[in-house]
Amino acid sequence: MITEQLDSSLVLDAVRVTEIAAIAASTLAGRGDEKAADQAAVDAMRTALNALAIDGEIVIGEGERDEAPMLYIGEKVGRGGVAIDIALDPLEGTTLTAKAMANALAVMAWAPKGTLLNAPDTYMDKIACGPGYPAGVIDLDRSPADNVRALAAAKGVPAEEITVCVLDRPRHAEIIASIRSVGARVSLITDGDVAGVMHTADPATGIDLYVGQGGAPEGVLACAALKCVGGQFQGRLVFRNADEKERARRVGITDFEKKYDLHEMVRADAIFAATGVTKGALLDGVRREGGQIVTHSLVMVSSTQTVREVRLRRPA
Ligand code: FBP
Repeated sequence: MITEQLDSSLVLDAVRVTEIAAIAASTLAGRGDEKAADQAAVDAMRTALNALAIDGEIVIGEGERDEAPMLYIGEKVGRGGVAIDIALDPLEGTTLTAKAMANALAVMAWAPKGTLLNAPDTYMDKIACGPGYPAGVIDLDRSPADNVRALAAAKGVPAEEITVCVLDRPRHAEIIASIRSVGARVSLITDGDVAGVMHTADPATGIDLYVGQGGAPEGVLACAALKCVGGQFQGRLVFRNADEKERARRVGITDFEKKYDLHEMVRADAIFAATGVTKGALLDGVRREGGQIVTHSLVMVSSTQTVREVRLRRPA
């Protein structure tokens, strides 16, 4: 049986985990070593999770068991307690961190056991917008140009006033051309599409829409974030070869063409936490000042549609 909601006492626990991972990764920011930064975040996050009174299972993690020694899919974490699914990315934006570029995050989502999509490590076509629009305003099966027009009409502005965030990849050339064909702006990011999707939920970022292909695990994480604020998201897995289809089969996926909406990817109420590693549009990065470490996080709860902004200050 699925518990629909997680206890609110877990909210602080969740954000403590992303804080610890972000602090660990930040020590490697700008040092050009993606793997070391990722490893530091993974080690810290795993230790923090194992100290908690939860019965957690990683459903979105660092990879399959044979390729990831820690926080692999199926790994159990915690010292016993409420049964939860965990989606995590201890360092979302390894290259951003290694190059000390904006928007690297430590992110994690919790939901009752059995309620998060077990997405394989493949690509996913994604489209997302923030809250306040009628249901179905965006649709993955429409062209980017049509989605821009629909969103602009719903927002009550001309298409020229819509800004779409897209990962800067050659595979997105057609998407970018389609968006620009109706006069909308494209805001390109080099990495980090969890942040890219989250930006649609905060008017201060100037981003209205997210479109493009990125990691499927990141899709589930971004979905959990949008679910907490009432945004919209659709995704469809993209398979490049037979091995990727086999990965999907192993996590129980049989319909390879399925278009998932947000509530199919995150099927119950969730808690989402993110801490900035490097400074970005939504979150400041980890800072060290006057013998102290300062972090900036968001922790969101879908059952109450609440977003808490958390500043931690502790001795370095
Ligand atoms: P890492 O943190 O694992 O480096 O991933 C960063 C990222 O930009 C994700 O945000 C995104 O979903 C994915 O990589 C895109 O993949 P690719 O770089 O292959 O286009």
